[in-house]
Amino acid sequence: MISENAAWSLGALAERVWARAQGRGRRFVLGIAGPPGAGKSTFAAALRDAVNARAGAGAAEVAPMDGFHVTNAELRVSGALPRKGEPDTFDVAAYLDRLRAVRETPVGQRVSWPTYDRALHEPVPDGVTFDRQPLIITEGNYLLLDDYGGAGWSAVREYLDEAWYLDAPVEQLRERLLERHIRGGKSEAFARDKVARSDLMNVELVAKTRERADLVLRAAGRDYLVE
Ligand SMILES: Nc1ncnc2c1ncn2[C@@H]1O[C@H](COP(=O)(O)OP(=O)(O)O)[C@@H](O)[C@H]1O
Ligand SMILES: [Mg+2]
Repeated sequence: MISENAAWSLGALAERVWARAQGRGRRFVLGIAGPPGAGKSTFAAALRDAVNARAGAGAAEVAPMDGFHVTNAELRVSGALPRKGEPDTFDVAAYLDRLRAVRETPVGQRVSWPTYDRALHEPVPDGVTFDRQPLIITEGNYLLLDDYGGAGWSAVREYLDEAWYLDAPVEQLRERLLERHIRGGKSEAFARDKVARSDLMNVELVAKTRERADLVLRAAGRDYLVE
């Protein structure tokens, strides 16, 4: 068992989750939640690579929640484009459908999953396909939301065999979010407005879901502190 206030290497975390994922007769789904900018996508990819380095290529793959962004065209029609990234700007029903497919489809059979293109700012249908992977790492802001609006986010938890929460100081989140908008082609003024109006609200919303995680992690150099 992981003890609190201990520092864990990526390799140790990979070994822990891989040990749990085996011998189930179906895929094991690890959820990684946390506020925007916490480093979830980076961490999920690194964890996948660390599992695959130990268990062999094709042991684990990432299933991003970001693939379920509603398209810009649809958000424009509904007037929600300025709020893009908030919980109701995702297709939660489609996310639940894919999570169910991942769990119910035997290992070795294909399940396709959408990804998100941060240059085009649009989802990519069938961006990744799972086939032989027994471990699927799904990551995103809202995995642990409990009954937010009518969107059904609270149903996600039952598809997660284990849920981790990656935390980071709010000042660091603010800086990373600003930088990400600017790197994605937005002006500094737009970026500051978006962070203040929308992103930091999402940070607060997600912070309330921290207690629903099985494990809370915080990056500390190359290691992760378990809180
Ligand atoms: N452990 C880390 N140390 C330093 N920078 C990091 C770390 N993890 C992520 N980052 C940087 O922070 C930014 C946000 O990371 P990302 O993985 O996209 O976060 P999220 O998916 O939670 O929104 C990226 O620019 C990434 O390079
Ligand atoms: Mg991300």
